[in-house]
Parts: sequence; C-alpha cells; structure tokens
Amino acid sequence: MDMVRVCVVGSLNMDLVVRAPRLPQVGETVSGGTFATFPGGKGVNQAVAAARLGTQVTMVGRVGQDAFGRQLVDGLRRDGIDVTHVRTAPVAATGVAFIGVDDRGRNMILVAPGGNLGLEPADVDEARSAIAGAHVLLLQLEVPLDAVVRAAALAKAGGALVCLDPAPAAPLPEKLYAQVDVINSNEIEAHALTGVEVGSMPAAEQAARILRGRGPGIVVLKLGARGAFYLSAESAGHVPTVPVAPVDTTAAGDAFAAALGVALGEGTPLAGAVRFATQVAGIKVARMGAQGSMPTRAEVEEAMQR
Ligand code: RIB
Repeated sequence: MDMVRVCVVGSLNMDLVVRAPRLPQVGETVSGGTFATFPGGKGVNQAVAAARLGTQVTMVGRVGQDAFGRQLVDGLRRDGIDVTHVRTAPVAATGVAFIGVDDRGRNMILVAPGGNLGLEPADVDEARSAIAGAHVLLLQLEVPLDAVVRAAALAKAGGALVCLDPAPAAPLPEKLYAQVDVINSNEIEAHALTGVEVGSMPAAEQAARILRGRGPGIVVLKLGARGAFYLSAESAGHVPTVPVAPVDTTAAGDAFAAALGVALGEGTPLAGAVRFATQVAGIKVARMGAQGSMPTRAEVEEAMQR
C-alpha cells in the first residue's frame, strides 16, 4: 500500500527533566537528581513516533520566539516531518514541561503551554490541505480546544481516521465526540470523562461503553502496567503490557496513541493494532526522554518476533 499520511495537530514543548530517586510531595524538596532537556510535547511525540513507524507526517502547531522553538522544529525536520505549518506565535516562550521522573520510571509533569496557546482555528484552516488530505489525524488536548474541534471537522470531511488522545483531561464538547473515530485515554482521563474509576476490567469496559456511546466507534483505554482494554462494534478485549524494566514512562501514552493510529490507518484489525501499540509503548518505557526515545519500525518488528 502507499505510505500512510499522518497529520498531527498539537503541541511542541521542551521537556526539562529531573530524574531523582523519588518524586516530591507538595512542599518537599528532593535532592540527588540528574537533569537533561528533551524535545517533547504530546503533539511532537506523536508526530515523531508516527514518522519512525514509517509514515509521512505533517505537523501543525505553534512555537514561541525562543531557542527552544527553533530546536523543536529542527528536531522534527531531522525525523523527516513536514513543518510547513509549524509557525512562530507572537509570544516569547515556547511550551515548556517540567518533568520529574523517579527510579521506577513514574513521572509528574507541569506544563507552561506558551506558544501552543497561539494555535487558532484560522491557523488550522491554513493547514486544511494537509489535514483533509491525511489518512490519519492525531489529536491531543495541549492546544486550544477550538483548534482541535476545527481540525477534527476538516479531517472527518476529508475522510481521515480521526484519533483523539484526550490528554491532559478536559471536558469535551459533543461536537468533538461526533467527529472522532478513535479515542484512546489513560485511566485518569477516562475517570475525568466518564466518572468511572477504571480500577478493574469490568470498570474499564463500563467506561469504554460510556465513551463509545458519545460517538467514537473505537475506544481504547491505556491502563498502565495492566495493559490496554479495547472496544468497538465488532470486538472487545484486553492486551497485557510487554514485560520491561521501566526507565521513563513519559510519552508512553503518546507512543501508544501514534502507533494505534498508524496501525489502524494501515488497515490492521483493532486487536492487532492494540498489540502493536502496546509493543511500541513498551520499547519507549525502557528508554529515557520523550521524542528521541520513540522506536523505529524495524525495532518494533524485531521486538514482536521475540
Ligand atoms: O505526554 C508526554 C508529554 O507531556 C511530555 O513530552 C511533555 O511535554 C508533556 O506535554
């Protein structure tokens, strides 16, 4: 088949990461960490993950007028991603995420969105041909909701598979649910969107049925160490995680979301697409950092044969 065309409308952040023995409580200082910067942002992470899986990717987003913005755009270019629609917003700061990672790979993230907030529906309209011409649109919620809604409508009208990762969690308008084909959320977002605490498989199924009732034909819930639960009109099931020693869970959800969209866009049946996404996320979790730790297609295929 032709190479799958993916469009990502989403965020670009520079991640400022401290890896420490443990994460602090409110008001506490934890010393003894190491510091590094990594290109990130849920949009960038999904764009790079999709590109490394062998798709043709266009990114739509906004950076600020600083060095971080230029570094993020250069990083996307190095992965062969079309950055025509990544423009500079009239604010100084590019999005920044302060991330703490503990020695079990768990994270806490604080985001200052900066230039990401400059992405408006009119900017999305400017990228109409890339969005409507894509096979798969990947959306998250780190850019203004109006822009997300507009992108979903353009992609749906063009016949793309519209995939939404509702992170960070926010109430979603009915008109967005109506345009989304695939929603994949983690436990926190599923709870925020449905009121159901996804602490067991029956609860995961209950939350998935609520989300599916709002419009998306496919719901996939990312359950951390418990794997993933999927639901569509034709199938429902659970896929366990691949066993790995976690180094950094940051962007594991992004790796999963991108891989799920890519596999579905390639025509893989849902259960196989979730297995593929689980494998991609498993490789990511075993590495430090966001964008740079996304695996290539060859790495994923090799891991799946083991
Ligand atoms: O999903 C992980 C991402 O969330 C990080 O790269 C950080 O930038 C935040 O946006």
